[in-house]
Amino acid sequence: MWSETTDVGPCNGFFERPALRALVPRPLAGANFLDAGCGSGAQCEWLLDQGARVIGIDLRPAMVEQTDHRCRGRGRFFVADLAEQLPLPPSSLDGVICSLALHYLEDWSVPLRSFADVLVPRGWVVVSLDHPFGPPLPDQQGGYFDTELVSDTWSKGGVEVTQRFWRRPLSATLDSFGDAGLVVERVVEPQPSVDALARFPVELARVAGVPWFLVYRLRLAS
Ligand SMILES: C[S@@+](CC[C@H](N)C(=O)[O-])C[C@H]1O[C@@H](n2cnc3c(N)ncnc32)[C@H](O)[C@@H]1O
Repeated sequence: MWSETTDVGPCNGFFERPALRALVPRPLAGANFLDAGCGSGAQCEWLLDQGARVIGIDLRPAMVEQTDHRCRGRGRFFVADLAEQLPLPPSSLDGVICSLALHYLEDWSVPLRSFADVLVPRGWVVVSLDHPFGPPLPDQQGGYFDTELVSDTWSKGGVEVTQRFWRRPLSATLDSFGDAGLVVERVVEPQPSVDALARFPVELARVAGVPWFLVYRLRLAS
């Protein structure tokens, strides 16, 4: 259910994912990737379909199982917590994708350092996050400059889902990247395409013209 509503849903399949994938350097075939916080494996499947070699990790065993099932024996998937050093060899991967997962952690020093450690020289990380200039969340107490645990509730397939995550100002995000030795190479502030707006006019009306997601491509500083 999670995969279906996310893959063909307005916010992920038709808005955040196209922006994320556009920032992933080509060629994909033969390259080695980590999908960090892989969820049900949409990015893993996309990469595998292009001939990449993929490792996917997620905190939740059910998500790892879904990824394994979706990818039909291709790739290597296991449960791991991004708050701990990843059990992967140093300098072994070309790229890391981390799609809408990092904001579940307050402290990014371990995951970002882990990403930097597993990358080959000039390796890259593509990260998508909520835009820090987006509309305030209903339970947000602090101001823009606070790093704060907040929550949001949305409906997926008729089921209400509430998630808790950390919002932070742009400077905190950029400082964390820099502290890990990752340099910002490209930034995209996506907007829904004309096709997406035609398909989901009601759902996407609230995001048109509004900073919603922010997608970064980072490079390991040489
Ligand atoms: C919003 S989902 C995004 C999933 C996937 N990246 C996608 O774009 O479809 C966030 C994922 O991050 C995972 N996650 C949250 N905290 C994590 C942690 N500390 N370590 C690893 N994964 C985590 C969740 O289990 C969830 O699958």
